[in-house]
Amino acid sequence: VPRPIVLGIETSCDETAVALVDGARRVLAHKLVSQIEDHAAYGGVVPEIAARAHIEHLDRLVKAALDDVGLALGDVDAVAATAGPGLIGGVMVGLVTAKALALAAGKPLVAVNHLEAHALSPRLTEPDLDFPYLLLLVSGGHCQILVVEGVGRYRRLGSTIDDAVGEAFDKTAKLMGLGYPGGPAVERLAAAGDPTRFDLPRPFVGDRSLNFSFSGLKSALRRQGERLLAEQGGLSDADKADLCAAFQAAVADCLADRVARALDRGPAGAALVVAGGVAANQALRARLAQVAADAGRTFQAPPLWLCTDNGAMVAWAGVERFRLGFTDPLDVPARPRWPL
Ligand code: KG4
Ligand code: ZN
Repeated sequence: VPRPIVLGIETSCDETAVALVDGARRVLAHKLVSQIEDHAAYGGVVPEIAARAHIEHLDRLVKAALDDVGLALGDVDAVAATAGPGLIGGVMVGLVTAKALALAAGKPLVAVNHLEAHALSPRLTEPDLDFPYLLLLVSGGHCQILVVEGVGRYRRLGSTIDDAVGEAFDKTAKLMGLGYPGGPAVERLAAAGDPTRFDLPRPFVGDRSLNFSFSGLKSALRRQGERLLAEQGGLSDADKADLCAAFQAAVADCLADRVARALDRGPAGAALVVAGGVAANQALRARLAQVAADAGRTFQAPPLWLCTDNGAMVAWAGVERFRLGFTDPLDVPARPRWPL
């Protein structure tokens, strides 16, 4: 087996995930328990429930991952875990577990920034994706444009001044009673809707910065929904589909405009890359692919399973960091906030 073999642990939000990845980019094992049902009744992730669920599942997933490939803990070269940013209770469960495993195996610990794991994830499935590349990082907690110059070397060009994109998707879904997480549900409805029926703002489009804003978009959508409610006493399925389509079209315009402007500034590599949970959205991927093509760049997006939180991206970031000697002492802290 090509070394290093890294065990990766992800527990920063509502997915308990473990994976084993090797130096030849092979995902040897991939385990994930989603807590969606545990949080559904609350319309969002409840930190205390999340932390307890990670405790409940993590040990078993680690054992199952190793058993799947017939490896013992001592066979891995390093143990990687998300050390932040994220819900601190969950991060601590994953990081403390990784520390214990590293200590027991006598192997190094790699403390991974969750955003770095998303940022490097496209390189797991795309061997030809070289540094530097321009990255649009869009998740439930973040929305940023970065130049990924190398492992551990990230230059932020712009970011959201209020809500993250995924958060806006989730709030849109909540508004229409579509459940949590909202992204996939909004995408499904939007596909059947008319994006032109409702007029929504495009915050920051045309602005010279590379920043984003989504809270105004969300409020405008809520006003449209409330107006319909007042007029007709309820929302039909067609209304919901049209609202979702309008929302997604506005988001696509905002992301496309900001990314096009970033590409306009000149080289930061040959590729435009999108990563993070929202990168699973097919309509947004198609739009960004077009932006890249117009700018003469290639376009890369990880496969869908690698977009939303998972253990493989943490294990892969562990592989990348371990190879460069970036390992961490066992007293490395868990960090609720940790900008890239
Ligand atoms: O990366 P991720 O799994 O967790 C964070 O690091 O935040 O991203 C989760 C976010 C959620 O807000 C979810 O609604 C959104 O990604 N998401 C999507 C889609 N799938 C997941 N947003 C839009 N379209 C999707 N298909
Ligand atoms: Zn994430």
